[in-house]
Amino acid sequence: MTTSQDTAPTSPATGTTVLQTIDVAVHYGGIKAVDGIDLVLESGRILGILGPNGSGKSTLLGAVTRLVPLTRGRVLLDGEDYGRTPPARLAHRGIARTFQTVRLLPDLTVRENIQLGSDLKLPRAARWRELVRRAVPEPVTEAIERTGVGDVLDLFPGELSYGTARRVEIARALASRPRVLMLDEPTAGMNQPERLEVAGLLRRLRDEGLTQLLVEHDVQMMVDTCDRLLAMNQGRHVAEGAPADVVRDPTVQEAYLGKRWNRAADR
Ligand SMILES: Nc1ncnc2c1ncn2[C@@H]1O[C@H](COP(=O)(O)OP(=O)(O)OP(=O)(O)O)[C@@H](O)[C@H]1O
Ligand SMILES: [Mg+2]
Repeated sequence: MTTSQDTAPTSPATGTTVLQTIDVAVHYGGIKAVDGIDLVLESGRILGILGPNGSGKSTLLGAVTRLVPLTRGRVLLDGEDYGRTPPARLAHRGIARTFQTVRLLPDLTVRENIQLGSDLKLPRAARWRELVRRAVPEPVTEAIERTGVGDVLDLFPGELSYGTARRVEIARALASRPRVLMLDEPTAGMNQPERLEVAGLLRRLRDEGLTQLLVEHDVQMMVDTCDRLLAMNQGRHVAEGAPADVVRDPTVQEAYLGKRWNRAADR
């Protein structure tokens, strides 16, 4: 059954706040994985999260997508606290994500994996049987074309290169026609041409109005792709602002970038 909550609202004007975290913290015993992060995700923009290994980027994404419980703080979607919304329900609200470690279902083909992303309203167990006997919905075709995975649709995830598996994950996320897309290191394991291709795709999607939260270690890609950057270190906010300014910030340089990135920031 669908409820009014299942319908993703249409995107508001570019620049309005879609998603916001207020003093969000996730502690694991003594480990403060995320410790008081305030972020604002604006409609039609890409916010990048930058930080060294273990700085809390993935945990923050988990907190925002309700996969890890908050120790403290609030997460607002369209100004409304969705603290008790289960992760599955978030998909119905128009939020899709990809994971740092590829999470495709190994016993389904690429085509079926992508189709799963598109069909939010079928009960979970009935989904894939139902899907294989139905016509391929348009968002699926579009997601396949945009991510360039048309040649591998009949393969199983185990037969894919890491970079291709990542593109399939992006296709699956896009197949739900999200209004907010969250990506955790979408280009990890890809070669340079593949990375540039994905970065180009994310920018095109942004230009079409798709709001994105992007975690990546590739600093140049982040500078070229994001509208704003938030830098983290040890679970805490270090700097935020225009990408070129953030990567030049001395605190960010010290925490993460090091001398090797100076040239990239000056390009
Ligand atoms: N389930 C968990 N239990 C205990 N500690 C955890 C758990 N998940 C993450 N941590 C710890 O929280 C901290 C932040 O981890 P997180 O994975 O969010 O960092 P990250 O910035 O995504 O790192 P990377 O760039 O390596 O992906 C690390 O110290 C990590 O060991
Ligand atoms: Mg991570």
